[in-house]
Amino acid sequence: MNERLLPPISMLAELTHRCPLQCVYCSNPLELLKADRELSTDAWLALFEEAADLGVLQVHLSGGEPTVRSDLEQLVGCLTRRGVYTNLITAGVGIPEGRLEALQEVGLDHVQLSIQGANAPTTEKIGNHRGAHEKKLETARRVVELGLPLTINAPIHRHNIEEVPAFIELALSVGAERLEIANVQYGGWALLNRNALMPDRAAVERQVEIVEEAQSRLQGVLAIDFVAPDYFAIYPKPCMGGWARDAFMVAPDGTALPCHAAATISSLHFERFGEWSLTDIWLDSPAFNAFRGDEWMLEPCRSCERRDIDWGGCRCQAMAIAGDAAATDPACVKSPLHSRMAMLISQANSAPSSSADNFQYRRIGRTW
Ligand code: SF4
Ligand code: FES
Repeated sequence: MNERLLPPISMLAELTHRCPLQCVYCSNPLELLKADRELSTDAWLALFEEAADLGVLQVHLSGGEPTVRSDLEQLVGCLTRRGVYTNLITAGVGIPEGRLEALQEVGLDHVQLSIQGANAPTTEKIGNHRGAHEKKLETARRVVELGLPLTINAPIHRHNIEEVPAFIELALSVGAERLEIANVQYGGWALLNRNALMPDRAAVERQVEIVEEAQSRLQGVLAIDFVAPDYFAIYPKPCMGGWARDAFMVAPDGTALPCHAAATISSLHFERFGEWSLTDIWLDSPAFNAFRGDEWMLEPCRSCERRDIDWGGCRCQAMAIAGDAAATDPACVKSPLHSRMAMLISQANSAPSSSADNFQYRRIGRTW
């Protein structure tokens, strides 16, 4: 057992993979789980009790679309009773009248609403759902009317990068407290659609200027978080704050994972809640321990002054691009494979599959 390990701070609970939208950048795995593979209400309640015992302070309730679970009020109520902060991550489409009120009643603390475009045609194109934009704006209005804090999450890629100023206006107009301008991370469905989603460098540079100007102009009015695009970076991000360092996630079937795309590292085996306790997984899972800290690092990370700032970047991106999960994230300028990022950008920008016609929409049960 790892005696020096601190407890996790936050957990992302992917309650379901079911979702009314089919976003082409979805971070869920390509092999989505059907409803009959989801944990039961009792199993989620037991898992949340144990998470609270373990020390988890905040749970992000996500999916798929978490509001398709009819037991969501019970789950939020359990977390509230245990003093755990709850954040509902929703697509904001098809939430019945009274549901947000019921969730607030049992203690929901925060709502994060994803919006695919700053206008209806973009939102509908990216999520493949007619009428989605109006429904999302209506959800935003209801959340703010209830007095719940609202974050707008805007996943950015080639098809909406020029809409960043309009996203800022939209967030202001609905009364959001926070806006996340989050450049798409190329894992899951976004990796499959990379050629159709990758922006060009000039657009990325314009976006950075716009966001920086708005961050300073709107101080105290709207907090704007910026998730930079890895492929255009010099140094990588500390993905998940470091592998199994203070956060983890649970898939709909109870599989505990250090991050969204961990299952793409086929050399690792991930335990399921029920077979292992959460505490045992956090402390002793070989997969959770595989890239913890810095002892696993190879050069150039091993002797780098940034190794406990970015923890070597993203293991899943190293797997996807370098073919080795222990390699330096190729987003890093010190990686021998860094130039491959520029090559992938230019390949995507010149690919014939760069139009929306070539989107591979997220779909449960897609056959390959
Ligand atoms: Fe981070 Fe490794 Fe690059 Fe250093 S060499 S900046 S630790 S990814
Ligand atoms: Fe797995 Fe970054 S998505 S470590």
